[in-house]
Amino acid sequence: MVLLFYVLMQTFIKDFSTKVDQEVTVRGWVYNLRSSGKIAFLQIRDGSGFAQAIVSQHDVADPVWEAVQSITMESSVEIFGTVSKHPKKDEYEIQVQDVQVIHVAEEYPIGKKEHGPDFLLNNRHLWLRSPRQWAIQRVRNAIIHATYAHFNEHGYIKIDAPILTPTSCEDTTELFELDYFPNENSEKASTAYLTQSGQLYIESAIFSHGRVFDFGPVFRAEKSKTRRHLTEFWMMDAEAAFVGYEENMDIQEALMHAIITYLLEHCQYEFDLLERDTAPLEKALEPFVRMTHEEAVKKLQSLGSDIKADEDLGADDETLLMHEYDVPLFVTKYPAKIKAFYMQPDPKDDSRVLCSDLLAPEGYGEIIGGSERIHDYDLLMKKMKEFDLDPEPFEWYLDLRKYGSVPHSGFGYGLERIVAWMCGLQHVRETIPFPRMINRLNP
Ligand code: 4AD
Ligand code: MG
Repeated sequence: MVLLFYVLMQTFIKDFSTKVDQEVTVRGWVYNLRSSGKIAFLQIRDGSGFAQAIVSQHDVADPVWEAVQSITMESSVEIFGTVSKHPKKDEYEIQVQDVQVIHVAEEYPIGKKEHGPDFLLNNRHLWLRSPRQWAIQRVRNAIIHATYAHFNEHGYIKIDAPILTPTSCEDTTELFELDYFPNENSEKASTAYLTQSGQLYIESAIFSHGRVFDFGPVFRAEKSKTRRHLTEFWMMDAEAAFVGYEENMDIQEALMHAIITYLLEHCQYEFDLLERDTAPLEKALEPFVRMTHEEAVKKLQSLGSDIKADEDLGADDETLLMHEYDVPLFVTKYPAKIKAFYMQPDPKDDSRVLCSDLLAPEGYGEIIGGSERIHDYDLLMKKMKEFDLDPEPFEWYLDLRKYGSVPHSGFGYGLERIVAWMCGLQHVRETIPFPRMINRLNP
């Protein structure tokens, strides 16, 4: 009885190194296979890892050998056999004694030949199974995990911000609008917007918890068709009371260091699969560089960019600037008029704001945006008028400046941009399970 239970228990491939010479049951999928006469080699994936299963006609009963002949790419199977170490490589194999075919897959559309990105994206629901995509999602998960762990260890709690909102948070031209139920005073449907960032909402929570963060999907009706833009992506916003814009950068730097340290410790297998050279990530554990927007513009002009003194850095500028650095760079104090309404003016020059954008090396551009927030009621009201924002739906946000207002700062990272950088990917579309872009809503 005990033996039977042991035999039927599923072993995960990731644990094979502790199971050498033991009999195990593995359940998973055959992602590749080849046969040479009386031996079949099945490449197995079980979610936890990848291994080769070797079936020798000589060692298995005739019906088992026949079942093996029916296996196609992506068929699901249960395999019983003995774990062994690959004679040369640091890999483990399973010498098969029995195979149950759970489902014989139809001809699998994703083959060994090169496919274009559109074909792969149309088959995203299947493409997610490939080893590279597996590795990317593991790294994504590790970044999420490291973020939660770091914040929980540093006195932050997670506060969930709403997705349906009555106003914008960032650029009003990039809002997804939808009809909502009529409000109390009207028969007409009211308008709701999909959130662009939870920031404004979590600002209210600092008065209750001091330090907070959110993590969720955000939406931008961006017309940008670049390798860094999605219309739906995941943002982590963090906010802290009694923190100025310098300390805000220290907090971001510590978070990024914690994420990279965690990944280097836990994701080496994934990085190997992705053929990601981790030397640039190790380098990013060093202190980050900080420079003002004014200095960045001068530097860019000297490098040949036609950027003007009061302009935002374009994607090309970010890449050009980062050719000079192998650690992340904070660009600070942007002109007020090209940044959001809630940013605190620089006391030394109120045409600029106390903000920072964190640029990643290796051409990945902006990964974090942050700032000190305006905490004075009158100033915030004045800025909203300058930005042509109707204060009425923002009354609750203005209220925060009426009851125990304090200086505070925060920032938000774009998860997909960080995944792309960590994994060394060309485009953010591979970093999220189901990318949404201006030209893609399927599958
Ligand atoms: O710089 P952003 O717009 O900042 C905010 O939304 C602030 N409210 C955050 C805060 O202070 N709490 O966006 C933050 C980050 C960017 O640095 C970038 O990494 C990412 O979100 N991001 C995008 N990622 C993918 N696709 C897009 N369209 C993105 N837009 C911004
Ligand atoms: Mg930004």
